[in-house]
Amino acid sequence: MSSRVYEAINDQVNNELSASHSYLAMSGVCEQLNFPGAAHWFRVQSEEERGHALRLFDFIHARNYGVTLRQIHVETVPVRTLLEVFRASLAQEEQVSKQIDALYEIAMQEKDFAAVVEMQWFVTEQVEEEKSARDVIAKLEMAGSDARALLEIDRELGARAGEGGGTGGEGARG
Ligand code: FEO
Repeated sequence: MSSRVYEAINDQVNNELSASHSYLAMSGVCEQLNFPGAAHWFRVQSEEERGHALRLFDFIHARNYGVTLRQIHVETVPVRTLLEVFRASLAQEEQVSKQIDALYEIAMQEKDFAAVVEMQWFVTEQVEEEKSARDVIAKLEMAGSDARALLEIDRELGARAGEGGGTGGEGARG
């Protein structure tokens, strides 16, 4: 693995951990807004991002390199509306998609085909993640300030299954 590919993947381990932290912050904001279903949804998402980081962490070690972890910086999420929290999450996913595309390009340029294959999984995952956020945003926009509709969306978000398949975990409700 070239140092350029290695450094880009190591950066992405840190980016995914940062995304995980950021989603945990969003989960906390949803708790404050009294949307326990959305809080659960973001907690599951935080775990998914940690899973992404660990996937790359394992990839780096499998290729006989070491990982350098860095300090995580988390932007403060304003506590206003559920819609704003989900818009912030979509912006974050769009940012991650750009990071993944850049990483894919570096792997191609360096002819590192193992890294290209690994990054293909992430490219596909990003399409899904952006779509999930957009779907929730569309529903929230339709709901507007209708409390009953918002509570129904929150109930649906609370049913999101975790990585292990259940709705499990401390944050599972709904
Ligand atoms: Fe791992 Fe949602 O990017």
